[in-house]
Amino acid sequence: MESTISPMKTEIIQEDRLIEAIECLKGGGLVAFPTETVYGLGAPVFSESSIQKIFSVKGRPSDNPLIVHVGSLEMCEAVAESLPPVFFHLVERYWPGPLTLVVPKRLEVPLCVSGGLATIAIRMPSHPIALRFIREVGPMAAPSANLSGKPSPTSAEDVLEDLEGKIPFIVDGGKCLVGIESTVLSLVGDRLRILRPGSIGKEELEAFLGAPIAGVAHDMPIQSPGMKYRHYSPKAKVVLVTQRRDLEGECILSPKPQGNMRLLTMQTLYREFRRADRMGISTIQIDCTDPALLGEAVLNRLIKAAQPHSSFYR
Ligand code: TXA
Ligand code: MG
Repeated sequence: MESTISPMKTEIIQEDRLIEAIECLKGGGLVAFPTETVYGLGAPVFSESSIQKIFSVKGRPSDNPLIVHVGSLEMCEAVAESLPPVFFHLVERYWPGPLTLVVPKRLEVPLCVSGGLATIAIRMPSHPIALRFIREVGPMAAPSANLSGKPSPTSAEDVLEDLEGKIPFIVDGGKCLVGIESTVLSLVGDRLRILRPGSIGKEELEAFLGAPIAGVAHDMPIQSPGMKYRHYSPKAKVVLVTQRRDLEGECILSPKPQGNMRLLTMQTLYREFRRADRMGISTIQIDCTDPALLGEAVLNRLIKAAQPHSSFYR
């Protein structure tokens, strides 16, 4: 999708100028802000024209729904309805934090936010700047603040790299602590289901709830439209290597680095992808000799980034 927005000056601002960012949002502009997972590109959830701008600026397909960021249970009630008991149980334990819950949407929320779905994804981020922002502006729809298909941004500079000239403000909140997008858990339908793995794992949630949770269903894209698009991809080719003897490229990421390999964790994944692109590296090799060391969330992103270059875990 071509952006229809004319170029503008993009400023990275500190928290002391948050009031300008809030005024900008209220006037229909977009603002990128930090969360503990990755940076988000925000707009008030009930402002349809601002929401349309998010899709246009990111080049995001209109059927890929946005996450709504809230700062209180009252804000949840303003965008969602028929919230089940398990919702409140999870919220009490995991919010604010990197857990997104998919629940029935209130009719008042514009359909463009949910990509036409009758459900809505909501989460309360824990970053203090995000929370201050949301408390001033109200519920805020925000996808990751990258161009569609690129790795998510984990610093204000990453956002600038993708969105310079397209949005007026990026609020700098330092490096994101988690480094990978939130776990998305669906509470609708006949069973609880992880739609996107994140730092809060399936086993942890099952232990907390004392109930089984279905894993990511690769054959059910309709449940989480975003997962069908190519994602998280650097320009460099990403190759998942399963034999130690094949690890020999100029850029090797490993959960247990040796020699000139670079450390791969949830926190470093996107940062390393972007670094490789800035350095003009053509191929990134991933040490998958012991995939369990990487964890489900990182593996999920790697498999998407590697397609169609890899037959690993197809
Ligand atoms: O950590 C995060 O979640 C970050 C920060 C900014 O909060 N946000 C983020 O948003 O990653 P985004 O738009 O890049 O990813 C949203 C994901 C997509 O995979 C989308 O398909 C899914 O959530 N999603 C949103 N609403 C949904 C719904 N109603 N049903 C199923 N999946 C939904
Ligand atoms: Mg995203």
